[in-house]
Formats: sequence, C-alpha cells, structure tokens
Amino acid sequence: MEKVAAVILAAGKGTRMKSGVVKVLHPAAGRPMIAWPVDAARAAGADPIVLVVGHQANAVMNTFRGAGDIRCAMQEEQLGTGHAVACARDALAGFRGTVLILCGDTPLLRGETLQELIAFHRGQGADLTVLTALMDNPHGYGRVVRDESGRVLRIVEQKDASPEEQAVREVNSGIYCMESDFLFANIDSIGSDNAQQEFYLTDLLAIAVAQGRVCLARATNDTDEIMGVNDRAQLAAASRILRQRINQGLMADGVTLVDPDHTYIDYGASIGPDTVIQPNCSIDGATVIGANCEIDAGSSITGCSIGNDCHIKAGSVLEDSQLHNGVSIGPMAHLRPGTVLHDHVKIGNFVETKKVVMGTGSKASHLTYLGDAEIGSEVNIGCGTITCNYDGVRKHRTVIGDGVFVGSDVQLVAPVTVGSNALIAAGTTVTSDVPSDALAIARVPQVNKEGWRLRKK
Ligand code: UD1
Ligand code: CA
Repeated sequence: MEKVAAVILAAGKGTRMKSGVVKVLHPAAGRPMIAWPVDAARAAGADPIVLVVGHQANAVMNTFRGAGDIRCAMQEEQLGTGHAVACARDALAGFRGTVLILCGDTPLLRGETLQELIAFHRGQGADLTVLTALMDNPHGYGRVVRDESGRVLRIVEQKDASPEEQAVREVNSGIYCMESDFLFANIDSIGSDNAQQEFYLTDLLAIAVAQGRVCLARATNDTDEIMGVNDRAQLAAASRILRQRINQGLMADGVTLVDPDHTYIDYGASIGPDTVIQPNCSIDGATVIGANCEIDAGSSITGCSIGNDCHIKAGSVLEDSQLHNGVSIGPMAHLRPGTVLHDHVKIGNFVETKKVVMGTGSKASHLTYLGDAEIGSEVNIGCGTITCNYDGVRKHRTVIGDGVFVGSDVQLVAPVTVGSNALIAAGTTVTSDVPSDALAIARVPQVNKEGWRLRKK
C-alpha cells in the first residue's frame, strides 16, 4: 500500500478574526480548530502530518506536543499557499507517496471524505486531484475552470477571475491529493504574477495540465465540510455543526437530549445510555457521565467524572470534580475543583464545595461552604455550615469523622478535627478538636428579659 502524508497550512494569522490568538487555535466545540483537520488526516491514514506554521508558531506546535506523527515546518513570511507547501519539503524529505494538502481552518472536514478522495485519486492514477464543491454563492473562493469536454484546466482566484470565470459555481475547497514526485518537482516553479502577488498553490493545476499529467477535480455535495472559517460568525456556524454531530452521536448511543439545538456538548465528553439532558446545559472538558443520570436545565459541567444514577439539578456548576453513583447535586450548587463525592452524597441548593472529599451517604443540603475538608460517611452537614479554611494567609484543613451530625449555622475554624459520631450543636463556632461521640456546644447562654419590650415603650 502506498503511503499517505499530509501537509496542513496554518501559518496565516487570520486577520478577520480580529483576535490576539492565531485563527487555527480558536476553539471549535472544545478543541483548537486545527485539531479537527489533523484528526481527519489521521483517519485517512496520513503519517507524518506536517503543519506549516508561522504566526504564533510555538503556540500552534505546543498544541500537538508529544504527538509522534506531527512535524512542523516554519513559514516565516506568508507569501502564499504555494510557498507554504514548499516550506514542507524538508519535513517530507524521503517521503514518497500521496500527499494530502489541507487547511488548518476547515474544522468540518471528515476523515471519510479524505479516504474517498484518496481512493478516487489512486483509482484514476492521478497526479493531482482537487476536492471541489458546487456553491450557490461561490464568492471569495477560487473557481475551477474546465474545457468544453469537462476536463480541468486550472483554478483561478476570485481576484484574478474574469466575469465569465466568476460565474462558475464550482469552487476549490483548498483540499488536494498530490503525488509527492509531481508536487516537489514542480512546487518551486510557481510564480507570483497575479492580483495578490502571492505564490498560489492552485497554479499547480495548470502546470499539471501543461505537462499532460492526470489532473482531476472531484466534487463533493456536502458544502459544509469544506467550509473555511475566516471570521467569528463562521466559527460559530462551524461550531454549531460540530456540536450537532456530537449530539447525533450521543443520541445514537442512547442518550436523551431533550432539545439538541440547545445542548452544548464539546468534543471528548462521554455520556452513558438513558441519561437525560435538559436544555441549555454545557458539558465540556472531557467530562464522563454514566448511565441513567438526569442533568437538569442550565447546568454547566466541565472536566468531571460522574457515575451512574446521579441527578444534577437545575443551574448547577460542576468543575473538575468526581462523583460516584447515586449522587444528587443542586439546584444551584457549585462544585469547584477537587471535589470528590462518594455514593449517595447529597449536595443541596446554594452549597459550594472545593477540595472536599465526602464519604458515602453524607449530606450538605442547604446554604453551605465546604473547602479543604475531608468528611466521612453518613455525615449530616446542617444548613449554613461554613468551613473557615482561610486565615488570610494560608488554607487549613477540616476533618470530620463518620456519622458526625453538624447542626445548623456552625463554623468550623480550621485546622480542626471532629471525631466520629460527635454532635456539633447549632450555632457553634468550633475552634478546637472535638472527640468522638462528644457533644460540642459553644453558644452564649440565652437570657430572657421579661417585659423588656413593654418597658421600652
Ligand atoms: C485558498 C485557495 C482558493 C480556495 C480557498 C478555499 C489559493 C491561492 N487559493 O484561498 O482557491 O478556494 O483557499 O478555502 O490557494 N496559508 C499559509 N501560508 C500562506 C498563505 C496561506 O499557511 O502563505 C494558510 C492560511 O493560514 C490558511 C490557508 O493557507 O489556513 C488558506 O489560505 P488563505 O489565504 O485563506 O487562502 P484563500 O484566499 O482562502
Ligand atoms: Ca481561507
């Protein structure tokens, strides 16, 4: 089997994004835009994959740190797509086979489409095959010029096209298959005598035709797939389509999305069957959710691992937390990073946790802050409890043993340890350790002054 390599052009700045961040690193459905075409190239069997980088080259390269199949080629000055591909020559030294050429700003391109393109290209014994599409509004794209018999002659850019050429609806996707021998024998003969004074990669078509090579154009009818993202509106449109694909995949696997058009699940999330997700939830950061969970409206879950049979009630925010099975959260609870909740833990409304471990069956049902705490199993945390973990300089830990009952409105001034099965009376400020099985109570004794209101009148 002949080998496949890919060259992905990503040196441009993306001026129309009006951003401090290079275009190809803008996230689309939870990952940098360029990660999508890289995956498509991988799915088509390309190895190595050469990224032509320029603007913010280090940031782009760092995105793929540790990926053995990725090589980078530097294009210091963006002199055009032809010049960009020429910059990949050294990175592909010694490679012979089919070279896929893609752009870093086409996140909707699928691996299957590239596989089909390669199969067609090879089946026809072509030297160069370009993927094209028929567009109702071809404005801005290069147009495919064919002769009367339909044979491809060349591609002409919008800015160089005559009125007749501008009327052509078949456009260049910027996605190509080329044999390496043809590509590198000719890439340096491209000139820059055109409206933009750039080295156009598209000139290779006319060069191939002049040499009597097999030069083909293969049209796709999925115009979404080749959509290039140039500005934020296109980024939103592309992201929406990526999320639709993610949602369709999840629904096919047995997840109920009550309103898929208003459910925002990013790349990398995994969700088990019979889980029901209500509208306006966002789930990202490679979150894993088990089976039979309910995720109620307006919840935001990032970087979490959630077991089976959990219920996340409306408006809750969960970050980098781990929930075992049968856990109930919210409504309107905030789990901050480092929260670990074992089976059947209940976190109620207006509870905030951070770096907290709670054992099986423990509850904090209302209005509570728990931070830097280790809480055993079957513990009841009363309404309004606060772990006072911060002394203004450092954070301190609170340790609460199994079976402890913490009454309402208790402050635990850390560092402090409460032994198992102890009871903290409501309103207590705990400033020293409480032994197991003890009652801790620290309140000003109540005084009733009889008739006090009457005397004030
Ligand atoms: C290019 C094609 C056009 C096609 C369109 C499809 C050429 C001359 N034109 O036009 O026929 O319809 O794509 O989207 O190829 N890049 C570099 N270095 C450079 C120039 C560009 O890395 O010197 C990268 C850009 O970062 C971008 C990609 O190549 O990712 C495409 O470049 P762009 O300038 O957007 O080309 P278009 O004008 O869209
Ligand atoms: Ca473009």
